[in-house]
Amino acid sequence: MERSEALKAFYEIFGAEAEELFTAAGRINVIGEHVDYCGGKVFPAALNLRCNIYAKRNGENVVRIALRGIDGVIVLETDKLDSYKTLKYGNYQAGVAYFLQKSGTPIVGCDLFYDCTVPFGSGLSSSAAIEVATAVAFSEYAGVKYDKKELAVISQRAENEYAGVNCGIMDQFASAMGKKDHAVLLDCSTLDYEYVPLKLGEYCLVVANCNKPHNLVESKYNVRRHEVETALQAIKAVKPIEALSQLSVEEFLEVKYLLSGIIAKRAEHVVCECARVTAAVEALKKGDLVELGRLLNESHYSLRDLYEVTGKELDTLSALARKEKDCLGSRMIGAGFGGCTISIVKKTAVDGFIKRVGGAYYDAIGYRASFYETSIEDGVTVEKL
Ligand code: GLA
Repeated sequence: MERSEALKAFYEIFGAEAEELFTAAGRINVIGEHVDYCGGKVFPAALNLRCNIYAKRNGENVVRIALRGIDGVIVLETDKLDSYKTLKYGNYQAGVAYFLQKSGTPIVGCDLFYDCTVPFGSGLSSSAAIEVATAVAFSEYAGVKYDKKELAVISQRAENEYAGVNCGIMDQFASAMGKKDHAVLLDCSTLDYEYVPLKLGEYCLVVANCNKPHNLVESKYNVRRHEVETALQAIKAVKPIEALSQLSVEEFLEVKYLLSGIIAKRAEHVVCECARVTAAVEALKKGDLVELGRLLNESHYSLRDLYEVTGKELDTLSALARKEKDCLGSRMIGAGFGGCTISIVKKTAVDGFIKRVGGAYYDAIGYRASFYETSIEDGVTVEKL
């Protein structure tokens, strides 16, 4: 939605002009999948696809929320913030407000119009973008000096404990802390991070959504979390570790015998994926894009064969990409079971890539994939209108 249209919609709904625009980003993850909740390093980047909130203080003790494409206004009373957990829309916002208030930030009444351009259910973290943008809006209006890292943590808490989705920290961190043309190498056990230029020269990242209808992603995600926890507990009996990410591949192979079939596969993915992140960052820093592409492919195979979170659609989409001579590597990103892939593709070949991969995907699956025009941008922005 154009800005002028959003401003018009705001005026029509709330009867006044919006005064601020708060935004936070959707994300991709270059590599490091299903390791954030195992203390591993991840390598996400913030996108131009974003949650935009047009906003104005309203001088009342309520937060009013309107969403593009959804009729009606959701009203949150600032002294009843614990009572909105079951809302279909507005629960992320309420959760963020609830935890901010609990941590001492007063929630100032405001009217908020959400124009989220991160496609829902795409694995590009629309929920994190909504949470983080909301957290920024409330913090700004409260006049509280905030650290974007803290807002990411509060946003994750809202998603875990208020909305009841047991995600790790990667999405909210990338959404808040992303930096234009950089990926963030984030250590999920300490929250230490480093920005690495995402310099791909004559190549770029193509983001494609397999458009598989969403089903049971959360419950399958929770099963994986439980499986790696089982692995950790078994290994702890012989090794003093706090998280699977602390094991090198060699150390893991020594203790693998302790784990039963499926549990061993899950843990092997985590340990090897952590090693791939380090190798991928080195390759990128050296400008070795062929190696980076190879590691992306390895990551996908591991998510397919060991972690088992891909499925026919993501496997087909990434395999078709890999067949292209101007594609250096391709893999699923995010939780999996549906959602997006990223592929490293020569800039001059992108149009043909989309045409051929898109066409062959349709022939194989029976519905279309979507390809997004993306760029890597800052995480959070605040603008006075
Ligand atoms: C989802 C979660 C993240 C992370 C990824 C898998 O996006 O929200 O915390 O676990 O899946 O890497």
